Amino acid sequence: MSRLTKCHNFQDFRKLAQSKLPGPIFNYIDGGSDDEATYRRNTSAFEDVNLVPNVLTGVKDIDLSVTVMGQKLDMPVYCSPTALQRLFHYKGERAVAAAAEKFGTMFGVSSLGTVSLEEIAKQVDTPQVYQFYFHKDRGLNRAMLDRAKEAGIKVMMLTVDSITGGNRERDLRTGFSIPFRLTVGGVVQFMIKPAWGLNYVFREKFSLPQLDQHVDMGGGATSIGNYFTEMLDPSMNWNDVAEMVKYWDGEFCLKGVMSREDARRAVDIGCTGIVVSNHGGRQLDGTGSTLEHLAEIVDEVGKEIDVLFDSGVQRGTHVLKALSIGAKAVGIGRMYLYPLAASGQAGVERALGLMREELERDMRLMGKTSISQLSRSNLMFNGKHK
Ligand code: FNR
Ligand code: LAC
Repeated sequence: MSRLTKCHNFQDFRKLAQSKLPGPIFNYIDGGSDDEATYRRNTSAFEDVNLVPNVLTGVKDIDLSVTVMGQKLDMPVYCSPTALQRLFHYKGERAVAAAAEKFGTMFGVSSLGTVSLEEIAKQVDTPQVYQFYFHKDRGLNRAMLDRAKEAGIKVMMLTVDSITGGNRERDLRTGFSIPFRLTVGGVVQFMIKPAWGLNYVFREKFSLPQLDQHVDMGGGATSIGNYFTEMLDPSMNWNDVAEMVKYWDGEFCLKGVMSREDARRAVDIGCTGIVVSNHGGRQLDGTGSTLEHLAEIVDEVGKEIDVLFDSGVQRGTHVLKALSIGAKAVGIGRMYLYPLAASGQAGVERALGLMREELERDMRLMGKTSISQLSRSNLMFNGKHK
């Protein structure tokens, strides 16, 4: 049996990824900010909510499809946009997009993606989300919106929780930077992870095609924290985004909303969706888990716009809990990045396949045949219905 087919869950993929990646790259994916309290809480919070199954409902055929931000998905789980994917596996975004297409679901391409949004848009038919970072250079912002429109992108996702770099102490310790530098430590990593090293050196050169045309990223290595702090605009406010929403004139969501008031303001400025997210515990440490915030945000705006959800998801049952509270679809990050690092497209396909199997099995065990049948009456919080 190959090592990949021995991966049955998140932790199995995580271990396999760790065995393949240089330490600084593994820790960049694996880490959170400060004490990583929010990061841990994201997943542990799922254990504070219990599923309440119904029996004898007749569950022969299960329909996992959902429609979110105008896009029909075959399953309610999508690959949230993440940066630098060709550092994790040489096929990077190409592998993730192809795997998402096989499962009929949406995926995101990051502003810090390592394959161009245009190439990916040509490669696959499945809905592509474009993840936008708001730069100090307003001309660059306009140009990025125009480029995305031209490429046929349907869903714009503006990340609003990363206006300055989170304090990623693992990256400070390892010196993780982009481009990944072969410092003395880097060379040691290269020797102990030779397969990764050969791909990094001999395959396509590292680049950031969403930004390369607009920004000179060739001026030496920088950390992710520095990129956020130096390039992104901390003065970005609701008026700026209202203008952007108008200019985009299509599906537009804010990624990184954690409060009811902000959810309301997102509706007021014309957003069609929000993602309840704390960036997988990589930005502000000390917030609650996204699961704890979801119900009040759904109660505030769930009837008006699509509420999406991410951070901490590792299981089909986690997805069912978020959907039962009222999320329309659930994003995963590390849950597909470890499989990508472990085995490229085959890894991501295995992870999405296992997720789909878990969802089908868990829906049957819950006595539900379609996602629209899930509701809060399927849940207990501290022994009580909400
Ligand atoms: C991310 N995330 C992210 N988000 C974003 O808006 N733009 C980006 O470029 C990235 N890049 C990125 C890189 C890596 C290595 C990780 C782990 C995460 C956040 C991502 O979209 C998502 O919100 C979280 O990953 C969700 O948490 P889980 O599923 O990883 O726990
Ligand atoms: C991260 C970015 C790039 O979380 O969003 O590392």
